Amino acid sequence: MTEVEQRIGELRSQLHEHNHRYYILDDPAVPDVEYDRLLRELIALEDQHPNLLVADSPSQRVGSPPLSAFSQISHRLPMLSLDNAFDEEEFAEFDRRVRERLGTTDEISYACEPKLDGIAVSIVYQRGVMEQAATRGDGYTGEDITHNVRTIGSVPLRLVGKGYPELLEVRGEIYMPLAGFEAYNERAKESGEKPFVNPRNAAAGSLRQLDSRITAQRPLEMCCYSVGFTEGGTLPGKQAAILDQLAEWGFKINSESAVAKGVRRCEEYYQQLVERRASLPYDIDGIVYKVNDLDLQDRLGFVSRAPRWAIARKFPAQEEITRILDIELQVGRTGAVTPVARLEPVFVGGVTVSNATLHNFDEIARLDARVGDKVTVRRAGDVIPQVVSVLLECRSAASQALTPPEQCPVCSSPLEREAEEAVLRCTGGIACSAQRREAIKHFASRRAMDIDGLGDKLVDQLIDAQLIDSVADLYQLSLEQLSALERMGDKSARNLIDALDKSRQTSMERFLFALGIREVGEATARSLAQTFRTWEALASATEEDFRAVDDVGPVVASHILEFLQDPRRMAVVEALLAAGIQWPVVSVEENERPLAGQTWVVTGTLQSMSREEAKEQLRSLGAKAAGSVSAKTDCLLAGTAAGSKLAKAEKLGIPVLDESAFLAMLESHA
Ligand code: IVH
Repeated sequence: MTEVEQRIGELRSQLHEHNHRYYILDDPAVPDVEYDRLLRELIALEDQHPNLLVADSPSQRVGSPPLSAFSQISHRLPMLSLDNAFDEEEFAEFDRRVRERLGTTDEISYACEPKLDGIAVSIVYQRGVMEQAATRGDGYTGEDITHNVRTIGSVPLRLVGKGYPELLEVRGEIYMPLAGFEAYNERAKESGEKPFVNPRNAAAGSLRQLDSRITAQRPLEMCCYSVGFTEGGTLPGKQAAILDQLAEWGFKINSESAVAKGVRRCEEYYQQLVERRASLPYDIDGIVYKVNDLDLQDRLGFVSRAPRWAIARKFPAQEEITRILDIELQVGRTGAVTPVARLEPVFVGGVTVSNATLHNFDEIARLDARVGDKVTVRRAGDVIPQVVSVLLECRSAASQALTPPEQCPVCSSPLEREAEEAVLRCTGGIACSAQRREAIKHFASRRAMDIDGLGDKLVDQLIDAQLIDSVADLYQLSLEQLSALERMGDKSARNLIDALDKSRQTSMERFLFALGIREVGEATARSLAQTFRTWEALASATEEDFRAVDDVGPVVASHILEFLQDPRRMAVVEALLAAGIQWPVVSVEENERPLAGQTWVVTGTLQSMSREEAKEQLRSLGAKAAGSVSAKTDCLLAGTAAGSKLAKAEKLGIPVLDESAFLAMLESHA
């Protein structure tokens, strides 16, 4: 073997190992730059020695020059489909049939697996080396997508471990995780390309590339769920054990998979997964239940194109087709004008949806959405329903494109569009009743002033009854006014007055957040409160003062100044303060100080300060300074000539800091 061959061999095995740790074990051993360095070295060597290039080289993950067409591959074993069960009863019916056929009344063990919503794939390994990958196609013949599948990091190009069959066909799903899908679409929109409608289409579109260098750029993953044919080797006799075996050979399997015995346990698995569906990092459209025992699977066999031993329990659809009845414009708290599609009500993602956001007018133009159009609506998890695409072939000839408005639909002030922003904004500010209405809702909300019982509906009711017009009016409401409202008893009126009273005592950060200054969220409000502490200090601050605050950049600073320079808004703030809104003025919240809750002891002689000064410093960081060492001591600060206290601390295993370490700690908290 030449030196070059040897180096290429080393690089390949290191890269295979890093890849496995990164994509399968989620436990990378080296930083990305190191991986890239090794990969570049390998590619350079292979470029110089093209005769040494092999198909399973990690360098092939970056893609290869385009094919002219996809070739067809026939599956040695057909890739079947699954029957569906749409509710618990249909699953129980399936289970009855299984037990009847097997002639047993015993409960059956099922392997339960999330049904990933992607593209089915078959991958063949010969002596542990990936050789061929194909789509499902019609179940008998698929397309050769080997060049594309090679680029997917979680597909092993070479198996790890031992004991794999000479010839092994694995099957699984290729999908695009949600984070990658969103990031991809974000970039596509920015560069004016067409975003994908959903992660499934994104996976399909990415695999349909003749140029695998494009596929290599797409965030795809592959998760295995079964073995097709094998030659020269044996496999475990249970579905769940096969998955574990596949994981040992380097495949990604789904960590949510589990075995459940009997219908009731299967239903429990379904329930817990439905609840967590929205927080999974990928789309699933149901659960696949498979009889776990392969001998029983064999006895059950197949009907037409589906196995008798497996069934897909479907989740409520996340996409449905409906019609846009109207497009309305909503004006938000900061004046942003959002077009909202009123829809013919449709059951999607587990709830009835009758509105969907269209985001802004760029989005309407991109979708080319019009009143009367048939559209696909998507509601995934607790995400706001979205219009994802228009069924253009169903459009009536009379339909008309919507032109963006020039005036606020509520107050008729001119709309403006800031550079680089997609949204149109009402310039009416606090003079716009829609902005005031939303501002009051925000002010009362839990994370703002937390006025218990004052929800959005009641705010609407108070405004419509002309009892309030701005947030300051809230504190002038009387018991009589409130009790006279429809659906409001004396008790609720009393409770609301009490809640308003209680909200007068607040913190500066809540108050600042509640004011709804553009781009001032909770974190920025906290930084502002910690810096200025009083309203007077904040109101007289300059642009430079604001820019010096954590998380405040030029844009946020200009929004704050704009707020402070608006006499109508300042009148509201003055009225709120006059109504008794106040907060204790402290530097940093007691329990947020870095050493809060700790007990320290200071001993020995310090060079840079007296012991008393050191204690003062510790107290300012939130620690208690005690006189003697005990098991309750968190840390001992020991200067020179420390005596019995140091000995005791060492005996008790209490951490000891010397003066220079203490000074460094002070520095780090400065
Ligand atoms: S088993 C004979 N297991 O669902 C068994 N399929 O109609 C056939 N799918 O497109 C498949 N996750 O790609 C199985 N854990 C899983 C699955 C799964 C997703 C897809 C499969 C096919 C469809 C079955």
